[in-house]
Parts: sequence; structure tokens; C-alpha cells
Amino acid sequence: MQLIKTAAGYLATTDATPADITPKWFCKAFWQQRQAIIGSSKGRYTTWFVQYEHQQWVLRHYWRGGLVGKMNRDAYLYSGIHRTRAVAELQLLERLHQQGMPVPKPIAAHVARFGLWYRADLLIERIADARDLVAILSQTSLTDEQWQRLGAQIGEFHRHGVFHADLNAKNILLAGEQFYLIDFDRGCIKPPATAWQQANLARLLRSFNKEQKKQPSLAFTPQNWQQLLAGYQRVNPLP
Ligand SMILES: Nc1ncnc2c1ncn2[C@@H]1O[C@H](COP(=O)(O)OP(=O)(O)O)[C@@H](O)[C@H]1O
Ligand SMILES: [Mg+2]
Repeated sequence: MQLIKTAAGYLATTDATPADITPKWFCKAFWQQRQAIIGSSKGRYTTWFVQYEHQQWVLRHYWRGGLVGKMNRDAYLYSGIHRTRAVAELQLLERLHQQGMPVPKPIAAHVARFGLWYRADLLIERIADARDLVAILSQTSLTDEQWQRLGAQIGEFHRHGVFHADLNAKNILLAGEQFYLIDFDRGCIKPPATAWQQANLARLLRSFNKEQKKQPSLAFTPQNWQQLLAGYQRVNPLP
């Protein structure tokens, strides 16, 4: 990762960043004007899919949730460029992508400072033809073999010490037969340890159960979870 100083803050670039990058790339309006917005994903916030030459990217703004969010929707306290959400996520993704882990390829990040505060945005490569697990399981079920492979994949991340701060069913994508993890905001590399790894898995189970409460026809069963755990245990055995 490289940092380029701008009038207001920094651009953080990777090997995949085109040379003509500007802070404007992190504004939805820029892509709108070029008629280059090709889609969006609406969760709590909107994520934009944009077209750059022959590439498709995902543009995400860092929003605050919860109580603070109501007054201060996207400003974070600045304590050094490497501690900003966007640069930390870009660096983690760059490292994981270089290691061949199934994560989106990072393109660039943008941090704009004002006083003690900053706002931030991230550009990553869009995973082609991917859908998240909630979308998939609302239409079809996965095979035992797929649940095991997903478990093994998560085990592989854990074996590498990858802590995902929000491992849930919507942050797992499937494209063809490949599972991807996305949304590494507040993620980090930690010494592998049973406690956080089990907490990560427990969070994922809660997410499946929560989604199923919202949508009782969701194709998720205790047996599916057992298959996932079986795949996980083969790669990263937990007591
Ligand atoms: N790299 C990507 N490729 C394809 N789709 C993506 C990618 N990143 C995000 N999405 C889609 O956008 C949604 C929201 O993105 P995410 O990074 O999880 O942000 P948040 O959860 O903060 O809204 C995802 O659930 C997924 O459907
Ligand atoms: Mg998400």
C-alpha cells in the first residue's frame, strides 16, 4: 500500500490502483455523471457498484451505526492514517489477497480530514456473479459438501489468524463454487486462539438463526451447521 497526500487527507493505493486516481472516484456523484453506476446493494446503507473501463468495483462509504450515528453519521475521530477504518481494511484485504485468500481485491481507499475528524471510503473489486448467503438460502439449499467447504474456508481464515469483526451470513458470498468473505471493517490479524475463534463461529450461528426468524423458509438446518463445523474442524480443530 502507498499513501498519496491530498489537500484534505490521503489516498491509499495498491498495485491495482489505476494511475489516474483522484479523490472524486470516492463520490457517488462522479460515477453518476459518467453514467457508470451499474448497481447497488441496499442494506442498512447503500453500497454502489461502478464500472471503470472493463472493471467492476464496489464503492463503500464508512457509516457509523447506533446512537452516535444519529448525530454524527460518518465522522470518526482521527488518530493516525493507519488507524483509519478505510486504510486498515485496505491493508488487511491487500495482505489476504496476496496470500491467495478468497476476499475481494482491494483497489484504493480515501480519507478526508476535517479538524479532529475524518470520513472514509473504500474501493474494491466486485466479485462477479456473487450472491450473499441469505439471498441464496432464501431460494435454494446448499449441499452437505458445500456446507463443509464453507466451514473449511472459515477454518482456513482462522488458522491464518484472520479475525472478522462481523462474520454473518450476508458477509459471505458464493460465486460459482467459491465462497468469499467480505466486509473486513474492524477486522485484524490476531494470534490464533480458541476464544475469539469460537466467538466468531457463535456469531455466525446467531446470524443464520436470526435470518431464519425473519424468513422461516430460509434453507438452514442444525444439520447444515454440523456440516459446517465438521469442515471447520478438519482445518482448524477447536476443543
Ligand atoms: N466485492 C464485492 N463483490 C460483490 N458484491 C459485494 C462486494 N462487496 C459488497 N458486496 C455486496 O454489497 C453488500 C454490502 O457490502 P458490505 O461490504 O457487506 O457492507 P455493509 O454490510 O457495511 O453494508 C454485500 O452484502 C454484498 O451483497
Ligand atoms: Mg456487510
